[in-house]
Amino acid sequence: MSTPFSNHVSLPQEAKTQLVDTLNSMLATTSDLRSQVKQAHWNIKGPQFVARHELFDNLAAKLLGYADVIAERAATLGGYATGTVRQSAEHSKLPEYDVRAVDGKHHIKALVDRYSEYTRLIRHAVNQAEKVDDPATEDVYTEILRGTELDMWFLESHLNV
Ligand SMILES: [Fe+2]
Repeated sequence: MSTPFSNHVSLPQEAKTQLVDTLNSMLATTSDLRSQVKQAHWNIKGPQFVARHELFDNLAAKLLGYADVIAERAATLGGYATGTVRQSAEHSKLPEYDVRAVDGKHHIKALVDRYSEYTRLIRHAVNQAEKVDDPATEDVYTEILRGTELDMWFLESHLNV
């Protein structure tokens, strides 16, 4: 039962259920991505250490903010937000971080791969929200899509030299 709480949002129950299911999936995936970016922040070595170490921390902070907005949208629609570390690990759509990554380029490549999959999933979620006529949830995802594609460009720019 993904939407156990009554509320007065003017959408059909079926739409709310679908939206909350996807919001919880993206909550798990966002929290997982954040933890993986922190993993890179803590373990990176090599050239441009400070710039990359700080870039990763900024990206992680943005993902924490996105997770909060996603969870609160799920609650707004009558859902129970499933956002613990264990729940995130169980429901994330991303592969585990590449624990062999040590040098900067290896970390950045690992993160670009995961941002690529993450933005694909967010784009799909935008389309789902549009299909059930919920511009508010669509707006949540659209903001995240714009922000994470920008961040993916920041990461990719370290590789294209
Ligand atoms: Fe730190």
